[in-house]
Amino acid sequence: MPVLDRFRLDGRRALVTGGSRGLGLEMARALCEAGAEVVIVGRDEGHLDDAVEELSAGGGRAFSLAADLADGDEAARMCALALQSFGPIDIAINNVGGRRINFATEEMPLEEWRRIVELNLTQAFVCTKVLGAPMLERGWGRVINVASISGFVAGKPMRGRSYETSKAALAMFTKAVAADWAPRGVTVNAIAPGTFLTDANRRWFHERPELKTEIEATVPMGRLGEPSEIAGLALYLASDASSYMTGSVVVIDGGRLLW
Ligand SMILES: NC(=O)c1ccc[n+]([C@@H]2O[C@H](COP(=O)([O-])OP(=O)(O)OC[C@H]3O[C@@H](n4cnc5c(N)ncnc54)[C@H](OP(=O)(O)O)[C@@H]3O)[C@@H](O)[C@H]2O)c1
Repeated sequence: MPVLDRFRLDGRRALVTGGSRGLGLEMARALCEAGAEVVIVGRDEGHLDDAVEELSAGGGRAFSLAADLADGDEAARMCALALQSFGPIDIAINNVGGRRINFATEEMPLEEWRRIVELNLTQAFVCTKVLGAPMLERGWGRVINVASISGFVAGKPMRGRSYETSKAALAMFTKAVAADWAPRGVTVNAIAPGTFLTDANRRWFHERPELKTEIEATVPMGRLGEPSEIAGLALYLASDASSYMTGSVVVIDGGRLLW
């Protein structure tokens, strides 16, 4: 088969958590363009509607499911509903996560620690488990976890070590499950982004331009990532093009970890 055909996703159905905005929307767009039907999950119905309209306008087939993936129980409910309403799901991109805290460890309340671990690690485990099990039965599947370079290095301008710890654990979870599922046709890989200019980050940098300059200075390419620059990697990991790849945590950061 010609190599570009191995990137096609015709007849596949994907679910992207946090697919209504940011990196998730760009990954959903890539999968749609490659021919997959895509279910996007997020909390805000308005954002979901806008994203479905945008993806459909590009010729894709997109659906939405509103859910708050703040913890494992809510993730389990969402996955059950997704399989019931949209199954079978062949490709799961566990993209929801986030920091949105800036506590020093010596001041961090236990509840805050738990909240971030649930959001970045536990709900991704639940989605991998519930969406992955039927993939194993069918003998083909792709799980892509969105980790972060914060799983490898501690952030300097931002604290909140629960985020870094959760993303490091998500990377190791990816590898361990990949080993278990490798003989059964389901690959499990992770993407570890550096800093991207999502709308949320653009707003943040608008408020604190000195922070953007500070982060850019740590990136050998001298700039932050455009959200669309994650699309090719997500499509590769979602498709037959990556058939011999599992348990990889692929860094995409403009060279940030090189220094
Ligand atoms: N952006 C970066 O520079 C960067 C760097 C490294 C790693 N990452 C990782 O990449 C992933 C995506 O980041 P992003 O910056 O694109 O995220 P984002 O802009 O904060 O959010 C993107 C999506 O997640 C949804 N979402 C957020 N919280 C949710 C929840 N509790 N339940 C369900 N949906 C939720 C949002 O929709 P609603 O708000 O409507 O729910 C939206 O669709 C995260 O795991 C993040 O840790 C990002």
